[in-house]
Amino acid sequence: MDWEVFLAPYTQVVDELKVKLKGMRAQFEYELEHSPIEFVTGRVKPRTSIIEKMKRRGITPADVEKELQDIAGVRVVCQFVDDIYVIANMLHNRHDFEIIEEKDYVSDKKDSGYRSYHIIISYPVETIHGKKKVLAEIQIRTLAMNFWATNEHSLNYKYSGQIPGEVKARLKRAAEAAFRLDEEMSKIKNEIQDAKKAFNRKEQGNQPE
Ligand code: GTP
Ligand code: MG
Repeated sequence: MDWEVFLAPYTQVVDELKVKLKGMRAQFEYELEHSPIEFVTGRVKPRTSIIEKMKRRGITPADVEKELQDIAGVRVVCQFVDDIYVIANMLHNRHDFEIIEEKDYVSDKKDSGYRSYHIIISYPVETIHGKKKVLAEIQIRTLAMNFWATNEHSLNYKYSGQIPGEVKARLKRAAEAAFRLDEEMSKIKNEIQDAKKAFNRKEQGNQPE
């Protein structure tokens, strides 16, 4: 398998999606007081991880494009839980890709404690050989969910996927604490936004002519 050739369209898709989602963020900031997008990241799955996942799941090179949905991955991180659904709705209304699958791990958390909203899309990318449809995974989550998931991911890496029971239990408690933080933040969201508006007005007032 020529990995450079295989991964090139995925790199293109991640780059394009990052531009588009960051563009949404900028537009929100120009037009509204609050952007439902805090930041956007993206990555192409490293070839070692692709090979490992193929082995683990018995996926042949012929099936990898269809079976591995997260070779291209972008992440949209929001301040508030409500923002996740605002973004998911906006992605539904776009015409530049097709939604293939959706998983709401925000309202229905995974056993690990993981929360995020996942959307698998089929994205038509122009290659030097013509149009090619590539699968990509968009993960939408709050800052608190992201904090939890990145820490849990590091621990999984450290323990090679075999996190000890005691640590797992701690992680579940941490996930609940993160979710309570999100709930509390949602409750005081309006106050935060009012404070932001007042701050922005002050900042603008301080701009030189
Ligand atoms: P994999 O979990 O990647 O094998 O794919 P899947 O088909 O089971 O899809 P799922 O929606 O469960 O997970 C897709 C992606 O979500 C993963 O690759 C991770 O990035 C993320 N994810 C899912 N579960 C967890 C979890 O328990 N902890 C963390 N940190 N991330 C998770
Ligand atoms: Mg999984």
